[in-house]
Amino acid sequence: MAIIDTDIAQAKAWLLAGNVVGVPTETVYGLAGNAFNEDAVLKIFQVKNRPHFDPLIVHTNSLEKLTAFVASFPAVAQQLAEVFWPGPLTLLLPKSPLISDLITAGLNTVAVRIPQHPVMLELLAALDFPLAAPSANPFGYISPTSAAHVAAQLGTKIPYILDGGACKVGIESTIVGFEGTEVVVYRLGGISVEALESVVGKVRVQTHSSSNPNAPGMLQSHYAPRKKLLLGCPEKPADNWGYLAFSQPNAHIFPQYQRILSPTRQYTEAAKHLFGYLRQLDALPIAGIYAELFPNEDLGRAINDRLRRAAADAFVVE
Ligand code: TXA
Ligand code: MG
Repeated sequence: MAIIDTDIAQAKAWLLAGNVVGVPTETVYGLAGNAFNEDAVLKIFQVKNRPHFDPLIVHTNSLEKLTAFVASFPAVAQQLAEVFWPGPLTLLLPKSPLISDLITAGLNTVAVRIPQHPVMLELLAALDFPLAAPSANPFGYISPTSAAHVAAQLGTKIPYILDGGACKVGIESTIVGFEGTEVVVYRLGGISVEALESVVGKVRVQTHSSSNPNAPGMLQSHYAPRKKLLLGCPEKPADNWGYLAFSQPNAHIFPQYQRILSPTRQYTEAAKHLFGYLRQLDALPIAGIYAELFPNEDLGRAINDRLRRAAADAFVVE
C-alpha cells in the first residue's frame, strides 16, 4: 500500500528511481513520473490503465525550464502564461525534440503547465527533469482532490503519495491551444472563458470529442461516478436516489443523501467540492444521483461540462 506523507525528499527519491508517485496540484492530484524517462512514462499509462493515444501534460516550475520543452512560444501564449501561471491553465505548444512521442501520443504539440501548489512547486524545483502527470484516477473515473482519494484507487499500484492537502481549485486545468490567430479552448477548467477573454479577447470553445481530434482525452463519457447520474431532478424523485445541488437542498430527498456544493453560491467553492462530493454520493447505499446543472457562466460552465460527461450514458431530466 502506498505511503501517504508530506516528505518532498522521499517523493524525489522515488521519482529519481524511475517510479511514479501521487502529487498534489491546485486542480487535482496527479500521477507523476520523470517526463525524460520513457519507462516511467510507460508506468503512468499502465497504472492508470490509460490508452496510449491519450497524451500527458508536462509540469515544471519555471518559464526558463519550460522553454526548452517547446519549439516555439507564440506571443499570445506568453501573454496567457504571464497572467495565469503558476495556475490552472495548460497550453498546447509545438513540442521540442526533448519531449518524447510517448508523452504527446505522436502529436506535434505538447501540453505544458506550471501548477500553483507550494508543495508541488518545491518538488519541481528540486528536480532537473519535468513531471509528466495525468490526473491520478483510473481512466474514466472522477479525478482525485485529496491524497486519500488517490490511495483509495491507486494505493496498491504506487509506492508513495505526496500529501499537499485538499486541492483548492478542485477541477482540472483549462486546456488552450492556438490555431492561426485563434485561441481555442479544448477543455473547460479552473480558468474561466471570461478570464481568458479579458486577456486575449474572443476565444473559440471546442470541447466535443467528435469534432476534436486534437484532444483525444476529451471523450464524451469521462469523469464518471460508478452510479448512474442524471442531470436535473424530477418533481417526484425516487426515494433511493441522492442529490448533488449547487446551493439549495431538495425537500423531497433524504438529507443524508444530499450534498450542497456551495450554500452561498460561490462557483470557486462549488468547483472545489465537486469531485469529493460526487465520490461521497457514489459511496452511499443509493441507486443513482440527480445533479443540478449550474448557470452557464464563469466556473459554472466547467462544472456543467464535468456533470454532462459524468452523465454521458444516462437519461437527461433537465
Ligand atoms: O489540472 C490538470 O490538468 C491535471 C493536473 C494533474 O495537472 N492534469 C490532468 O491531466 O487533468 P489529464 O491527463 O487527466 O488530462 C489532460 C488532458 C487529456 O484530455 C489529454 O488528451 C489532453 O490533456 N492533452 C494532453 N496533451 C495534449 C496535446 N498535445 N494535444 C491535445 N490534448 C492534449
Ligand atoms: Mg484526467
